[in-house]
Amino acid sequence: MPLAPAPRFMQIASPAGRSPADELAAGLLAARPSISPKFLYDRLGSALFCAITELPEYYPTRTEAAIFAAHATQMAQALHRRVPPGGTLIDLGAGDGAKAAGLFDAIGPARYLAVDISADFLRSALDALHRRFEAIEMIGVGLDFATRLALPDGLVQAPAVVFYPGSSIGNFAPADALRLLRQAREASQGGALLIGADLVKPPALLEAAYDDALGLTAAFNLNLLRHADRLLGSDFDLRDWRHVAFFDAAESRIEMHLEARRALSVRWPGGERDFAAGARIHTENSYKWTAESFEALLRDAGWHDVRRWVDSQGWFGVFAAVA
Ligand code: AVI
Repeated sequence: MPLAPAPRFMQIASPAGRSPADELAAGLLAARPSISPKFLYDRLGSALFCAITELPEYYPTRTEAAIFAAHATQMAQALHRRVPPGGTLIDLGAGDGAKAAGLFDAIGPARYLAVDISADFLRSALDALHRRFEAIEMIGVGLDFATRLALPDGLVQAPAVVFYPGSSIGNFAPADALRLLRQAREASQGGALLIGADLVKPPALLEAAYDDALGLTAAFNLNLLRHADRLLGSDFDLRDWRHVAFFDAAESRIEMHLEARRALSVRWPGGERDFAAGARIHTENSYKWTAESFEALLRDAGWHDVRRWVDSQGWFGVFAAVA
C-alpha cells in the first residue's frame, strides 16, 4: 500500500461572534446565571475529564469501549453499506484519535479527518497515529463544530463516515442535537454515521457518575471558575462554591451547577454580580436518551436504516445509520 503524506492541519475560523469575555459576562448577568460547558475544557479541565473517564462511577467511556470491541465487525458492515473501505472517516471531537484508531482496521478509511476545537491539539496525536497507520492520509481540522459543522469543499472524499463517540451529543439540548445531526448528514455527502449515546438509567447511577466519591467531577466543574477568571478577569474564589449535580427526570438530563456557599459578589472589569447563599450557576446539561427516542432523533435528522448495539445492562447505545 502506498504511504500517505505527513499529516496536514488547518484551523477554520468561526463566524465572528462574541468574545469569550463578553459571552461569560452575559451568562453571569442572566436572570438564571450560566457558563457554557465549553469553558470546562482548558488544559487542566481536559486532563480532569480524562481522569473522570477512569472513575468506577463514570460508566460511559468503558461501556462504549466494550460495545465497540464486541461489535466492530458488524458496525463496519453497517457503515460499508454506504461507505466502502477506502472512504473518508470524519471524527468529531477527535481528541487523541484513539477511539477512531481502534476502528481503522474494521472500517478501512483512506482518509482520516480529525476535527476538534483547535488544530494544535491534534498535532501530536495525528503525528503518532500516522506512524502506526502509514497508508491513511490524516488531516487535522480545527473547527468549533458545536457552533456550525461545515467542512471546506474538497476535504471529504465522498461518501464519508461521520464518527461521533463518547455521548458528547448528550451535551446538546435536543433542538441543537437535531441541528448538529442534520449538519453531520450533509457533511457525510451521502455516507453514514456511527455515534454513541448515553441511555436513561436509575437516577442513583447517573448522579454517582456526575458526583463521584473522589471529587474529580467537582474539581472539573470548579475549575471552570479559574478558566473564567483568566478569560474575563473575574475574582471567583473557588472556596465559596460547591459542585451540584442531579438528574432532572422531566428533562431527561443531568444538570451540573456551581452553588454559592455564602452571600457574595463576583467582580470583573466592567461588571459585577451578587449571589445569595445557595444561588447557582448552571454549567452543563448531559441529556440521557432511550434507545427508541435516540433513533427517532436520528430519523428526524434525515438518517435512516438505523442499527444499534447496546450493552447487556442497557446503559449505553452505539448507533449506525445511513444518509
Ligand atoms: C463530554 N461529555 C460527554 C461528558 C458527559 O458525560 O456529559 C462531560 C462530563 N461532565 C461531567 N462528567 C463528564
